[in-house]
Amino acid sequence: MTRVTSDVETLNELFASGVVTVFGDIFRIIAIVGMMFYMDWRLTLVALAVVPLMILAAATFRRAVRDSFREIRARVARLNAFLQEHLSGVRVVQLFGREQAAADAFGGVNQAHLDAHLRSITIYAIFFPVVEFLTIAALASLLWYGGLRTEGSTITVGVLAAFIQYTRRFFQPLQDLSEKYNLLQSAMASSERIFTLLDTRPTVAVPAQPRLLPAPVRGEVRFENVWFRYASVPMDPAQGTEPAWVLRDISFTARPGQTLALVGHTGAGKSTIINLLLRFYDVERGRITVDGVDIRELDPATLRGLVGYVQQDLFLFTGDILRNLVLDAAITPEAAMAAARRVGADRFIQRLPAGYGHVLGERGRSLSVGERQLLSFARALARDPRILVLDEATSSVDAEAEAQVQEAVAELMQGRTSLVVAHRLSTILHADEILVMHHGEIRERGTHRALLAAGGLYERLYRLQLSGQEARQGERA
Ligand SMILES: Nc1ncnc2c1ncn2[C@@H]1O[C@H](COP(=O)(O)OP(=O)(O)OP(=O)(O)O)[C@@H](O)[C@H]1O
Ligand SMILES: [Mg+2]
Repeated sequence: MTRVTSDVETLNELFASGVVTVFGDIFRIIAIVGMMFYMDWRLTLVALAVVPLMILAAATFRRAVRDSFREIRARVARLNAFLQEHLSGVRVVQLFGREQAAADAFGGVNQAHLDAHLRSITIYAIFFPVVEFLTIAALASLLWYGGLRTEGSTITVGVLAAFIQYTRRFFQPLQDLSEKYNLLQSAMASSERIFTLLDTRPTVAVPAQPRLLPAPVRGEVRFENVWFRYASVPMDPAQGTEPAWVLRDISFTARPGQTLALVGHTGAGKSTIINLLLRFYDVERGRITVDGVDIRELDPATLRGLVGYVQQDLFLFTGDILRNLVLDAAITPEAAMAAARRVGADRFIQRLPAGYGHVLGERGRSLSVGERQLLSFARALARDPRILVLDEATSSVDAEAEAQVQEAVAELMQGRTSLVVAHRLSTILHADEILVMHHGEIRERGTHRALLAAGGLYERLYRLQLSGQEARQGERA
């Protein structure tokens, strides 16, 4: 965010400050030097003797200045990230009584930012006097040598006077230039960051000639010996170890209209399978096909357009309810409202004073979890997708809402290929095939009955869930 906002702003400042006049300055300097050489080359050499020193000084300072500006930019970014994170996570801060600790941490980040600025100012506080000193030195040596020459009558006082004027005019733009250097260096540091961002290659490549799915789209999903691991998170200092496989040799087929349930302990890789199907990441080995076409050959937009996806961690945008339902430009408000009616979201929306115009707070926080869930069901259904992907949230809503959600789920799955990360028994019982995941592998597969009869991992999971449900039902009773 800092790169696209304040780094771009820094570049803007560079142009707004009239750095373009630098070109005029450079032209003037060339003209002056030409004129001086024309009048008297020896005097010119004396006047300009300090120029190599000046270049040396600039070169020495350049690296220090560049480093300090890089540091400033990096620290501004950290400051922004810290603020953003702590403001949106303010509840957690309050909950754990971390106000003081967070304020202290902010103080640290803030101080680091200040220190970086102070360092750059210190560098300039040395650099400018050096330039000033060299200018004076140039004038002094000109007066000394020119004085000797006028005494010896090899030049006139007029020539010396002209040289003094020229020398002043020569160094004036140089001083301006070194002042603008400041801005220039800052802009360089920013543009480095902007270009790094621009040069970042998407990890998921869009094919130059995307293939089209054979029409009509049936919605068959196949995983063929898929292996996958997440690249190590760049923020972590890489410890040199290869990240572990998250998915190992996953193969399955969801035929058109079928419901496939994924179950397994937390962290088993269920959501990862979905991330791969939607091509948020690419597989490392094996392949994934939809209707027989490798998804890497499809335009990701086409692929994602086929899929209705209800995320495990729901995300709604600030804005009214309708806006959140018609995110896909192809969806009309009428279709969105019809979808909301079908999943039963309509009931709570009608109760809101502004109905579909009700404005949600940031990330939709002003709605309850169950309401948000219903909205995201409506959003998925409005696209009338061929493939439905449901990553059920584990958080259980109350019994009434649960029944509503279950109805909504049943409604969603009608006549579509469904891939469901299932926690609800009702979803699992009706699945055509259940894949039981364990540490990134499919340990068991089959229907509910068959798996239960086999008495393996699934049976244990099922018993645990069942006892949990009975306990809850007991509580309600
Ligand atoms: N973006 C990521 N970067 C690195 N590792 C990740 C990332 N997302 C998930 N993982 C890791 O991959 C593994 C599988 O995660 P995944 O989200 O697929 O689990 P899950 O089966 O959906 O679990 P849950 O039931 O809790 O949702 C976990 O060990 C997790 O720590
Ligand atoms: Mg998950």
